[in-house]
Amino acid sequence: MSDLSAPEIYLWQMVETRARELFALYGYEEVRTPVLERTDVFVRSLGDTTEVVQKEMYAFEDRGGRSVALRPEGTAGVIRFIAGGGPELRRARLYYMGPMFRAERPQAGRKRQFHQIGVEHLGEANPVADAECIAMQAHLLRAWGLSDFEIQVNTRGLPEDRKAVADGLRKALEPRRRELCEDCQRRYEENVLRILDCKQEACGRIAAALPPVTDFMSAEARDYFEQVLELLEALDVPVERNPRLVRGLDYYMHTVWEFTHGALGAQDAISGGGRYRIDVDGDAVDGVGFALGVERVLMALAAEGVDGDAFRERPKVWVVTQGERAFRENLVLTMTLRHHGVACGMEMEKRSMKAQMRAAGRAEARYAVIRGDREMDDGTFLVKDMESGAQDTMDMPSLMEKLLPDVAGRVE
Ligand code: HAM
Repeated sequence: MSDLSAPEIYLWQMVETRARELFALYGYEEVRTPVLERTDVFVRSLGDTTEVVQKEMYAFEDRGGRSVALRPEGTAGVIRFIAGGGPELRRARLYYMGPMFRAERPQAGRKRQFHQIGVEHLGEANPVADAECIAMQAHLLRAWGLSDFEIQVNTRGLPEDRKAVADGLRKALEPRRRELCEDCQRRYEENVLRILDCKQEACGRIAAALPPVTDFMSAEARDYFEQVLELLEALDVPVERNPRLVRGLDYYMHTVWEFTHGALGAQDAISGGGRYRIDVDGDAVDGVGFALGVERVLMALAAEGVDGDAFRERPKVWVVTQGERAFRENLVLTMTLRHHGVACGMEMEKRSMKAQMRAAGRAEARYAVIRGDREMDDGTFLVKDMESGAQDTMDMPSLMEKLLPDVAGRVE
């Protein structure tokens, strides 16, 4: 778990701001669900055989003896929220951003507190919604300045196809079962699909030779997937079919996808998503969505040379004071400028001019506005352009004209 501060925080802010702007273009609204939920909210959505639930959840008893957990992802809480609301929520487009928690072994790109930006598009359970969701995500990555990413897509088929897929895979794996790693020997019985994305080389070779999962699926599932792929082509979003893409959560059906980025090494998924059907007290909720790992987005931005410093907010003005009388008047000036929307700094200690000018330079202020007791007597200001070094003496009206953003005819 990490503290987040400058200079990285400038990138976090840019990433969040652009995400909000982009989601608004697609009609998504923000939802903020609690970080702590009853444990069963996650168990019933994510499935009790998933690794996240079995091994990675921060679950504990609260003082009332209730089992609660820090959210390991965002979908389950959003579904809990919309299931408790009216019918209009069943067709909502929602986004969220915030911390998630998984008790994983930390390594590059894997943290115990990490952050997701995610969306859930509820209702409208059809291939068009899936394709739009993937296309929006590609749009978002480009809005952040990323281009070196790939989109891998696959289908989990219909829930009714699951048994046929598992049986088909088992049959195809049977002759080479003994060559699988220990984990996959167990997975063969419990969760055969997970053999497909095993990271062990031997298992990878075996999985690569298997027929694609679509071979075992119904015509309806295959047709759905083809429609998604066709729509993505029409939207000019290049994707790669990856028949071995599984996704680690149980709620998926039909389309699943991951965005990968060359800079991320072993943990190369920058995001994951898919269509799902989640049962809430006997009531099926349909949706499609994705979540991006913000830490991984930042690693990708660094690799593509996007510099956080470019997004730092710099003050337009630094007010520099000399003498007792000017001090109070300058404080009034800084407040007036801020009330007019001009970012402005001034030291609260009375230090030398030199020290104050250094502070103005460190803050990378655009202008230093210098007023000492002598300027007070004359009713003027000395304005230094910190980029060109040019200095100018001005009275109050011309200073305001120069600095205020909404004064007509201002000189910049
Ligand atoms: P997920 O694949 O488990 O999907 O997580 C999404 C993304 O969160 C990953 O691709 C990764 O970038 C990031 N992530 C996950 N675990 C960690 C970690 N320990 N440290 C850093 N980053 C991490 C979900 O969570 C689904 N709820 C996505 C979804 C939404 N599907 C449908 N709707």
